[in-house]
Amino acid sequence: MAEKKARLTIDGESIDLPVYSPSVGPDVVDVARLISLGYFTYDPGYLSTVSCESAITYIDGDAGILRHRGYSIEQLAEHSNFLEVCYLLLYGKLPTDEEFSNFQSAIQLEQTIEDYLISVLSGFSRDAHPMGIMCSLVGAMSAHYHNEIDITDIENRHKTAIRLIAKIPILAAMTLRHIRNQEFIMPDPNRGYGENFLHMMFSENDSSPISSVLARAMDRIFLLHADHEQNASTSTVRLVGSTDANPYACIASGIAALWGPSHGGANEAVLQMLKEIGDRSKISEYLERAKDPSDPRRIMGFGHRVYKNYDPRAKVLQETYREVLDSLDIESDPTLQMAQDLEKVALNDEYFVERRLYPNVDFYSGIILKALGIPTSMFTVIFVVGRTPGWIAQWNEMISHGYKIGRPRQMYTGDVIRDYPLK
Ligand code: SDX
Repeated sequence: MAEKKARLTIDGESIDLPVYSPSVGPDVVDVARLISLGYFTYDPGYLSTVSCESAITYIDGDAGILRHRGYSIEQLAEHSNFLEVCYLLLYGKLPTDEEFSNFQSAIQLEQTIEDYLISVLSGFSRDAHPMGIMCSLVGAMSAHYHNEIDITDIENRHKTAIRLIAKIPILAAMTLRHIRNQEFIMPDPNRGYGENFLHMMFSENDSSPISSVLARAMDRIFLLHADHEQNASTSTVRLVGSTDANPYACIASGIAALWGPSHGGANEAVLQMLKEIGDRSKISEYLERAKDPSDPRRIMGFGHRVYKNYDPRAKVLQETYREVLDSLDIESDPTLQMAQDLEKVALNDEYFVERRLYPNVDFYSGIILKALGIPTSMFTVIFVVGRTPGWIAQWNEMISHGYKIGRPRQMYTGDVIRDYPLK
């Protein structure tokens, strides 16, 4: 029962609405009763709207805080690894050594790619966009597993999570090798998750060595992308899941939503933007166009619906980037130089300062992925691999805690009623 109440008065009539307090963050006003009094709430883009309860990820946009199950992203990035964070997101606690080993073995058992997926992949041209391919491959998984799905069974839900975490990086690497017309390299059970991904993408043969620094950087990039509360793609997964849909279809819908350049597609768009700017001397000119409301250009990788401070993930990525450059013995990278100059100019520009626009996770991720030799068209696929555990953990949390079908209303502004003209 809510202790606090909010009183809303409209045309002299007052209604009391319950106010709930979360474990941390702003109080929420429960407006569900408004419909019974003939009112809707209006919040396009959901700036002030809470869609669900969740215990997985907490973000404080003003303070630049990101925590998974209470653990800060800085500590997880420093001391944990991607698979352990997958376990944390799914099961709500850090695993014991035995639990982690069993989790790892369960994933390894599922690191197989069936012929139907290879047939779907082989149907794509070499210039097909990898994100469209990934939508199709995970969609194909929904068709393949449909008859054995029981979303009411917790073990069945966890099996789905394991399968997705196991297979999606392999499908991602195979997608790159398909568009490059290369033989597929399957995962090596003796390599870690990040190392295996680079191995499957770039190795010439099964025994090619992978640098431990680059493997750690890849693992950390996945970790930093693992979950992010109710962002557009996670909200999409929850909305599709609220119809009791096939969970693989829910994840395919999340991939589609992530593709947009305003969301996960921004990492690819950052590199395209830097290429369009072309030269450091052109940064100010581009910035003026990005500030012009009549110009569709934006500083890609800048701004965030929630963070009105530096995205904590961007800070960790900057450190990771340094490690990658040092490991690759790259003194200075013109793309990085351009990005750093752009960031410096933007952070000192009144327009960005007063709107509290800072670099987000996508601003630096693209530059690191480029340094790792990953083609730009694959950048958002890397985001998919990282975000899959977050999507499936959020879906599982919704299914296991009870939910209603998501069905927003609208403010109708069309013709009220018209008679069909009789001829
Ligand atoms: C991700 O939600 C998540 O958690 C997402 C994510 C995750 O992990 O899941 O963090 C991943 O998607 C990060 C965001 C990646 N997208 C980009 O980098 C694209 C560039 N950014 C913008 O498109 C924008 O900042 C958004 C989409 C990210 C946020 O948009 P909002 O919250 O709707 O803000 P807005 O568009 O209303 O902007 C407010 C003002 C506007 O100016 P005014 O109308 O007040 O004059 O700021 C301006 C905007 O024009 N603005 C920008 C800008 N971002 C906002 N102007 C120039 N360049 C920008 N990048």
